[in-house]
Amino acid sequence: MDKVKKHFEEEAEEFDQIILRLIPFYAEMIDALVLAIPFEKIRPIKVIDMGCGTGTIAKKIKEKFPNSKITCLDLAENMIEMAKIKMQEYDDISYIVNDFCNFKFDGECDVIISSLALHHLVADKDKKSFYRKAFDNLSDGGVFYNADVVLGSNAYLETINMLKWKEFMSKNVSLEEIENKWIPKYYEEDRPARLIDQIKWLEEIGFVAVDVIWKYYKGAVYGGSKK
Ligand SMILES: C[S@@+](CC[C@H](N)C(=O)[O-])C[C@H]1O[C@@H](n2cnc3c(N)ncnc32)[C@H](O)[C@@H]1O
Repeated sequence: MDKVKKHFEEEAEEFDQIILRLIPFYAEMIDALVLAIPFEKIRPIKVIDMGCGTGTIAKKIKEKFPNSKITCLDLAENMIEMAKIKMQEYDDISYIVNDFCNFKFDGECDVIISSLALHHLVADKDKKSFYRKAFDNLSDGGVFYNADVVLGSNAYLETINMLKWKEFMSKNVSLEEIENKWIPKYYEEDRPARLIDQIKWLEEIGFVAVDVIWKYYKGAVYGGSKK
């Protein structure tokens, strides 16, 4: 986790440009995540963004749900500082610097979301216990959605996922940078799980209406509701 924290502390200022170059259809993926939130626009929904980064998703939620009470949580102080700048027009956003594994909820949330962060949880059991904690801390009717990097169901499908990811990146960064920087970083820091397994875990935990609402090879938006 120290490596992950260091990475994002160092990358914070450039993060918003980097992510668009590296993650296929990032804006579309985020739109799908926000679109999945099923509440009325005026409701004062309680939302937490786990691994909020520079606050891109939180800001979109605030724009769509102006009365929402949003907590932005991230391990990296510099990412939180960027989020504060991005959302400086709002005075009702809470910011927490913490590891989402250690974080203790102080009451139920209506929406728990995460984007490109939970794949940093190392083992399947860590991801499952995060999903359980999310479920336990949602209000009835509340939703959990994750936009993340995933694995294909077998080696062949995962090879295609990787090819399509590299194809996307190659439009924006050099092959040398892809092969010597971003792919090694991926193998060093990222621990994605098979999407199909994660769907099963969510259902086993008790989430209903579990679904994949957006997917492009290695990227997917998925989650479900509590009741
Ligand atoms: C790739 S960035 C994504 C940021 C943002 N969610 C987005 O989609 O633009 C991953 C973020 O997750 C944070 N992160 C990774 N592991 C974390 C953990 N265990 N607890 C809290 N934040 C974590 C990193 O610090 C980083 O800001």
